[in-house]
Amino acid sequence: MHQSTIIVIFAGLFPLLATSAKFPAQFPTKLERYWWRKGFWRQPSKTTNPLEAGMDLVKMPFKICRSVNYKGESIPGKFLDGANICYIGFNGSEIRLSNPNEYQLLDTDKTSHFEWIPSRNGDIANGAVIGGISKNFEVYFICTAAHLEKGKTVILIGKLQPSEGACFVAFHGKEFFYESYNVLRDSRYAVKFQD
Ligand SMILES: *[C@@H]1O[C@H](CO)[C@@H](O)[C@H](O)[C@H]1NC(C)=O
Repeated sequence: MHQSTIIVIFAGLFPLLATSAKFPAQFPTKLERYWWRKGFWRQPSKTTNPLEAGMDLVKMPFKICRSVNYKGESIPGKFLDGANICYIGFNGSEIRLSNPNEYQLLDTDKTSHFEWIPSRNGDIANGAVIGGISKNFEVYFICTAAHLEKGKTVILIGKLQPSEGACFVAFHGKEFFYESYNVLRDSRYAVKFQD
């Protein structure tokens, strides 16, 4: 990130902090014209009500996970209950994280109000939840995409990478990307930024 970009981001924060007092104290900030926010990421054993999303081949939902540090990256993916595995896409492959120290789940609390907003080409939405970060410090968001597998549709959870204009998901060992997807947001933060 260039120094000038950092200055712009921090300069842009002050009016946001001043107007965000009525929202719960997370950390809304701005990516271009959007507000985004951190989520409640916790180790699997410390979650109280992890968010369910997507749909596997037998129409069961997944949970939302992210790698803590996979080759220097925090990457959002899908968590399969029972198997207790967090699956992420990386470099064309599906990676399985089975050690609970290697991943976290997105938790909810009483005030969370999550929604999935249809979007495309790397666009996010106001209130988009940060899903991770690349080794080059690009922020990832959280997306779901419909994927056809042997005539059946699964809804997979993956990483929305704005610079690539796509949602990256993984299934059965491979990574796929979709330019149409849903992006996760917390609607408490879905206020329009005043230009
Ligand atoms: C990505 O995969 C290619 C081969 O498919 C490999 O040559 C390359 O080293 C991989 N990159 C990383 C960062 O793992």
